[in-house]
Amino acid sequence: MAVFDDIGYDDFRRMATDDSLSAHEKIGFPDAYREAHEAAIFADIQSKLTRLADRSRNVLDIGPGCAGLPRLLIDLCRQQDHSLVLIDSPEMLAHLPDASGVTKLPGFYPNCDEALQPWIGRFDAILCYSVFQYIFVEASFWKFLDLSIQLLAPGGQMLIGDIPNVSKRKRFFASDTGVKFHQNFMQTTEVPQVDFRAVETNKIDDAAILGVIMRARAQGCDAYWLPQGEALPMANRREDVLIVKP
Ligand SMILES: C[S@@+](CC[C@H](N)C(=O)[O-])C[C@H]1O[C@@H](n2cnc3c(N)ncnc32)[C@H](O)[C@@H]1O
Repeated sequence: MAVFDDIGYDDFRRMATDDSLSAHEKIGFPDAYREAHEAAIFADIQSKLTRLADRSRNVLDIGPGCAGLPRLLIDLCRQQDHSLVLIDSPEMLAHLPDASGVTKLPGFYPNCDEALQPWIGRFDAILCYSVFQYIFVEASFWKFLDLSIQLLAPGGQMLIGDIPNVSKRKRFFASDTGVKFHQNFMQTTEVPQVDFRAVETNKIDDAAILGVIMRARAQGCDAYWLPQGEALPMANRREDVLIVKP
């Protein structure tokens, strides 16, 4: 199974109810990309979303899926006495445990904005991990950003994590390191084809990421473009954005 790129919210709903798929496959990843890496991914998230280490905060996870990461987050929130809101399809949320302090809000973000009105200005930490690429295609990504900024409390942090950046991917596969990686991974002597002038419909590139950072800054937040920890499985072609409301 390859990492799925051309899927969306309704495909995830269907995959969530497909009993032939593992938890990782239900969220679009081959087991090998996630199974042994979730602790390292979660540690990377915690090193950036430092509000998670506080006590008694309000936390939002947009698109938690149903594999290991939301379970690690639920456990951490219980330990730190945080309130946690999870937004995803009802089919995905049904796989996650019900726990005190956890609110499941079924819906398509950011179009579930009415249900989120009571939370405006109240979230200390927002996580959106490996989800922005779907929102980028299916929703207004400006509405996504603007609503998220409105939801942040003063001092609040939002991590838009695991963003597949086609520009970074091209730089990597045009490099000697990327060529060796491709040849080793694909067991081939072929050199990967990279076209820096291709029109990349529905793909996130440097310009889109920079646009998010510039718009967040223009709306009074600090925003940073961050690499993933080198040990993470897709660190050579994915990266993160951290938005902080002063
Ligand atoms: C690749 S999975 C990532 C899951 C989890 N964040 C992780 O990294 O393990 C994408 C998740 O985002 C959810 N999703 C996609 N678009 C969404 C949207 N517009 N609103 C809420 N959830 C969405 C999908 O249902 C799926 O659970």
